[in-house]
Amino acid sequence: MTDLKTSLSEAVGAAFAAEGVDKALARVTASDRPDLADFQSNGALAAAKALKANPRELAAKVAERLSNDPRLSSVEVAGPGFINMKLSNAALAQRAAEVAADVELAGASRVEPRKVVIDYGGPNVAKPMHVGHLRSAIIGESLKRLFRLRGDDVVGDAHFGDWGFQMGLLITACGDEGLADAFMAEGDGPFPAETPVTLADLDRLYPLAAGKAKEDPAFRDRARKATAELQGGRPGYRALWRHFVAVSREALKREYDDLSVDFDLWNGESDADPLMDEMIADLKTKGLLVEDDGAQVVHVARDGETRKKKLADGSVIEAPSPPPLLVISSEGSAMYGTTDLATILDRKKSIGPDLILYVVDERQAEHFEQVFRAAYLAGYAPEKSLEHLGFGTMNGADGKPFKTRAGGVLKLRDLIDQATEKARERLHEAKLGDDLPAEEFEDIAHKVAIAALKFSDLSNNRTTSYVFDLDRFMSFEGKTGPYLLYQAVRVKSLLRKAAEQGVALAPIVIEEAAERDLALTLDAFDAATADAYDKRSPNLIAEHAYRLAQSFSKFYAACPILVAPDAATKGSRLALAAATLHQLETALRLLGIETPERM
Ligand code: ARG
Repeated sequence: MTDLKTSLSEAVGAAFAAEGVDKALARVTASDRPDLADFQSNGALAAAKALKANPRELAAKVAERLSNDPRLSSVEVAGPGFINMKLSNAALAQRAAEVAADVELAGASRVEPRKVVIDYGGPNVAKPMHVGHLRSAIIGESLKRLFRLRGDDVVGDAHFGDWGFQMGLLITACGDEGLADAFMAEGDGPFPAETPVTLADLDRLYPLAAGKAKEDPAFRDRARKATAELQGGRPGYRALWRHFVAVSREALKREYDDLSVDFDLWNGESDADPLMDEMIADLKTKGLLVEDDGAQVVHVARDGETRKKKLADGSVIEAPSPPPLLVISSEGSAMYGTTDLATILDRKKSIGPDLILYVVDERQAEHFEQVFRAAYLAGYAPEKSLEHLGFGTMNGADGKPFKTRAGGVLKLRDLIDQATEKARERLHEAKLGDDLPAEEFEDIAHKVAIAALKFSDLSNNRTTSYVFDLDRFMSFEGKTGPYLLYQAVRVKSLLRKAAEQGVALAPIVIEEAAERDLALTLDAFDAATADAYDKRSPNLIAEHAYRLAQSFSKFYAACPILVAPDAATKGSRLALAAATLHQLETALRLLGIETPERM
């Protein structure tokens, strides 16, 4: 099923071709002047220029041909040669019926399915998740759902940070506190199968150890050594580390569950470790790994790619840009980038992806540029198959990355709790859900809270930073998650009433202006998802959901449903309402937002 924009583009293209003009110039867009037309094509302007013809005359000839199209009620030339098209009510009704019958809403313009890995979330063992992880989870989950809708075979991987220095910090702190004596022996074990630490221990130990490492060089050195020994395979440390990972993962899963985020894979950075030696040998064989000041690096800048760099002595040199990828530090450790490179190799072997998307803070852009280039050079991934989808920060009112009132990093759990509390308040103020059982009210408050957080995030362009403003996000008015949930619930309640009154669906008939507008909006969903998919931009779906809710609101105000004059009109409008609800819920689901049944 094709949307109107696409099928009209084809019709205008055919008319162009008949006039001897390249049909690729025929692009049709939604009208700038909805009062005059539904769609327009400006192609005659460029075409006339190429043919050295008069644009208005060319447009008139094309319009003449189009006037035979039974779907169009009027075709007019405006201004210097714009072609304005208005659809007949019958054509709009037919298209609305098509959308209403489409259960999947996956779009006709789907591509050949690809195997896609989405690397998102990126939480770390023991370190609490913060708002940067929140954005990654929200955006990544939405992209995963969108790519699946469009037909790709998608694997979402949390890429759990389970292998770095923080592991050595924890092991050392545990040892110092005598919490894990049984694991400190050097031999082969056996070691206890029960975890010696709780989540509360990890929550307490990590900041303590991280702080200590900053002040106490001896402690830092011991933690480094522990990290190296863990990575080197010391059995007691490995056994203890497995407990850290398990305890952490279980807690994280609960938080993600609350956010309706779930991963197909919980692979960790550690999973790439077994490939490390082989990879380093391979990079050497390929002549890519070179010595640089005691470290081993891969040069990734191409000829002439340099930038000015200030050296410690104040002098300025032209340094390669991006800088070389550090594979092995001068102390002999593998680095963050080494892990990412080995993970590409791991994914190649175990999954064979056509595309890997990394949903990670924009501030890691250079890191990914280095890793991707190294991967292409080494032949671990085909050119253009790796994409970093960066995002901006969530800022406080001061324009700096969001902090708690005490100045600390806001933990995800606290953020969700805070948002849920605000949602309860707002629901009470608006007298929503007051009469419902307490348990259901809690479920609604939770859904409203998540909708507010997710929608405010996803309605912004991915790359822009935005200001965290819970009061605004939680409003039932304006472009917010709660507003959209409220509209969806309103339609649900309308459909329930219609069912009680025995109103039956009937063929869709379009007559009123508000009905026309709603039909055009329903038609635009396919283009919105196609665009969001191409640009990896969930905000285009958020945009569409908002527009749909508004269009429905106007329709509902102008076109009574349950008290419409006759059964045919009631049934037609009911069918439009049902199609709206299905599309709105689909759009919200793509954003990772669940709708309650009532409120
Ligand atoms: N764990 C990292 C962090 O907290 C994010 C991981 C992102 N993904 C990746 N493949 N590097 O910053």
